[in-house]
Amino acid sequence: MNSMVKIRADAVEVRPLSAPFGAEIHGLQWGVPSRALVQTLTRALRRHLLLIFRGQVSPTHDQLDDFFRPFGKLVSETFDGRFHYGTFTDKDADQVHRKGQFNYVVNTDEGQTELVWHSDHFQRPQAKIMSILEAIEFEPGSVPTQFRDMYTAYEMLPLEKRGPLEYKQTVNLDPRTMDTKKYPRLADSMHPVFRAHPHSGRRCLYVNEFTHRIAGMDLDASKQVIDELLAHARENAPVITHHWQVGDICVWDNVGLQHRRDAMPPGQRRKLRQFEGVAE
Ligand SMILES: [Fe+2]
Repeated sequence: MNSMVKIRADAVEVRPLSAPFGAEIHGLQWGVPSRALVQTLTRALRRHLLLIFRGQVSPTHDQLDDFFRPFGKLVSETFDGRFHYGTFTDKDADQVHRKGQFNYVVNTDEGQTELVWHSDHFQRPQAKIMSILEAIEFEPGSVPTQFRDMYTAYEMLPLEKRGPLEYKQTVNLDPRTMDTKKYPRLADSMHPVFRAHPHSGRRCLYVNEFTHRIAGMDLDASKQVIDELLAHARENAPVITHHWQVGDICVWDNVGLQHRRDAMPPGQRRKLRQFEGVAE
């Protein structure tokens, strides 16, 4: 399909999952989405948090860019994104595909260790509001991806626990260079403990397994608070487990949803294509 053809909203079907959140999206074709389609999918994303595009053909670089550009800003077209992707490469990726300088990365997860709960780009200053991941290869029974809803985790936090943390900020470091003795610096990014989605204003608990500390607290006090918040999330954040089918494209609210996966047993293969995504 010509990528300049406007894709209308009425061709798309939103099928909510029988799960705490998530919906499948069927009938999607690539092209510049109409205003109505952007609204339909934004509404679905706000309500269901995770959208699983199924049954569409695998998009090209240009189709991805054209389709997702109207939802915010392409990460690759922001100052932060250009700086990041122009400065660093992902050593774990077996192939880096670039359109111009960058567009997406294909990760082969074989033999990788557990990936703990996190949101993408938490270690960068600019929020990535949509993460986009496509299953290129996926052995049946291979390790699934889990998602959890940190909006609900925030909303379940008792008011007396929120008060002291209301205006606190987390300090985050890039997980690849967490060792501050070897790589001394104060922070790679800071975010409010209760971060608001920059478009909707909805707040979530924005603390994850990599959060380094809370600014203005001693390290011990900070660790205790972070451990309590993570325990609260384990108890209260609704979780779903997504078993990938080849061709699935998961698009999620990367502010309010965190994700993880177990370690990949040797010999098991799954290959995912990570599009850089949409920034605020
Ligand atoms: Fe991730």
